[in-house]
Amino acid sequence: MKTKLTRFDLQSMKESGKKAVWVTAYDYWTAQFAEKAGMDMILVGDSLGMCIYGYEGTIPVTMDQCIYHSEAVRRGAPNTFVIGDMPFLSYQVNADEAVRNAGRFFKEARVDAIKLEGGQRVCAQIRAISDGGMLVMGHIGLTPQSSGQLGGFKAQGRTAEAAIDLIEDAKAVEKAGAFSLLVEAVPQEVCKIIRDVLTIPVYSIGAGADADGQLMIVSDILGIFQAFTAKFVKRYANLGEETLKALETYAEEVRAGRFPEPKHTYGMLEGEHAKLMAALKK
Ligand code: KIV
Repeated sequence: MKTKLTRFDLQSMKESGKKAVWVTAYDYWTAQFAEKAGMDMILVGDSLGMCIYGYEGTIPVTMDQCIYHSEAVRRGAPNTFVIGDMPFLSYQVNADEAVRNAGRFFKEARVDAIKLEGGQRVCAQIRAISDGGMLVMGHIGLTPQSSGQLGGFKAQGRTAEAAIDLIEDAKAVEKAGAFSLLVEAVPQEVCKIIRDVLTIPVYSIGAGADADGQLMIVSDILGIFQAFTAKFVKRYANLGEETLKALETYAEEVRAGRFPEPKHTYGMLEGEHAKLMAALKK
């Protein structure tokens, strides 16, 4: 049986140069496959807003939705390090609300850590959650909950000035008590500097290979999410096309009378059909 990693295992992996690999998951069956495939971590991302609920972004996602999906993932992957993603407005208002909402993930969904977006401006929240005894992962670079301020879903840290701000954010997040940091859609050179400067593990999603591990959105790599594909995504399957093909074939066979066949159909027990017909004649 797979053994669930701890923060210390993740730290040792960084120190020994062993890459951590993780994906998002939002439901029981995907979590089961992720665990079977040997993922080191699973993120129940607020990207579920787009991937599951069909929203345009992550802003409408609620705490209850995140808890509900984290519970399903926990059941599917009992032996994998699961991270719950704090949705918009669950931590921005103040540190007290952040602690209470982070606590719900641990109490109700039995996650191993939570993640929240932002650098220096959320350090009070990171400190408070960490002081509450909970593991916090930071997330900087392209932070989808503030995509309006960032001018859209765009790569970040591409100028020297912006890169310096990101490096300062990264240092502040570590100092505030985060056990690891996710860097999204940032040039590889900048992520490498952050990885080298910090002592905690630094993971990449769209920030190149010079990180302590890689995260991908499961619906992107399986070819399920069709609305758009970011530059940093690699598709490992095309389940979208497969699903469409399967549903179209099913519909065609039912309409043509080719499904169900006798092998898909139950029969009555021996002699019971004759008894039924006789009873119906009375
Ligand atoms: O919600 C999510 O899946 C995320 C990734 C985009 C990093 O936060």
